[in-house]
Amino acid sequence: MSTNAQQRLAFAAKVPIVLQSFPRLQSRKGPAGLERFDDEARFLRSWLERPLVTGAVTPSGKLLARTMASYVDPRVPGPVLELGPGTGPVTQALIRRGVAEDRLVLVEYNPDFCKLLKRRFPKAAIVQGDAYDLREALREVLREPAAATVSSLPLFTKPMEVRLSLLQDAHDLMHPGAPFIQFTYAVVPPLPTRGADYTASGSNRVWLNLPPARVWVYRRRAGSPKRDRPKGLDAASLSAGVDSPSRT
Ligand SMILES: C[S@@+](CC[C@H](N)C(=O)[O-])C[C@H]1O[C@@H](n2cnc3c(N)ncnc32)[C@H](O)[C@@H]1O
Repeated sequence: MSTNAQQRLAFAAKVPIVLQSFPRLQSRKGPAGLERFDDEARFLRSWLERPLVTGAVTPSGKLLARTMASYVDPRVPGPVLELGPGTGPVTQALIRRGVAEDRLVLVEYNPDFCKLLKRRFPKAAIVQGDAYDLREALREVLREPAAATVSSLPLFTKPMEVRLSLLQDAHDLMHPGAPFIQFTYAVVPPLPTRGADYTASGSNRVWLNLPPARVWVYRRRAGSPKRDRPKGLDAASLSAGVDSPSRT
């Protein structure tokens, strides 16, 4: 293990002590404040252990979570997919938006976050897996087209062809025209806004988030072909539909 990684892990062990020195967190009273404190500690520890996977040092704020959820229409039938739910702020916002907990399918890579999510959202389907391999991750879980995909994945840590592949896979698993919702701290969008197969629109910047963020929504154009993937990607795994998972 590199010295850098060792130093990060040593610091991760001290995270609760370090966080106690933040007056903003100390001053919060009651269970909600304590829960938020615990989540910040969990998140910071996860970021110190795997910075590129965690992608942020702190969970999303309520306003950003609410903005993400506002693009989901709870009246559209089918599961709602959440990629990279972390400690669950966006999950909570989706439930507040009117999406029943048992419609949620949460795909999270970090096993500690998965345990926490199981406790917090017992009716949701929690999948511990790699969201960039979405078909495989959802093979046993998804039985009908999804109503929306809400992603907090740190897309910029992946090459563009992997991001585009994820977008294709998500759209293949959803109703035509359903939204792929993604937030980013970056000034530029995480996926091109002018795709031949999809349309894109961005929210206003959410300044009341640390750091400020923007939400992008990508919808497949009517009539665009399914599984029209970027060149160079494996086509063999693309033959399965949501109704026939055994074909993947
Ligand atoms: C920026 S955090 C967002 C967490 C939470 N949604 C929020 O808004 O506070 C990104 C999350 O994506 C998860 N993640 C990263 N790569 C992943 C992957 N390949 N598959 C599933 N989850 C992943 C991380 O573990 C982390 O929980």
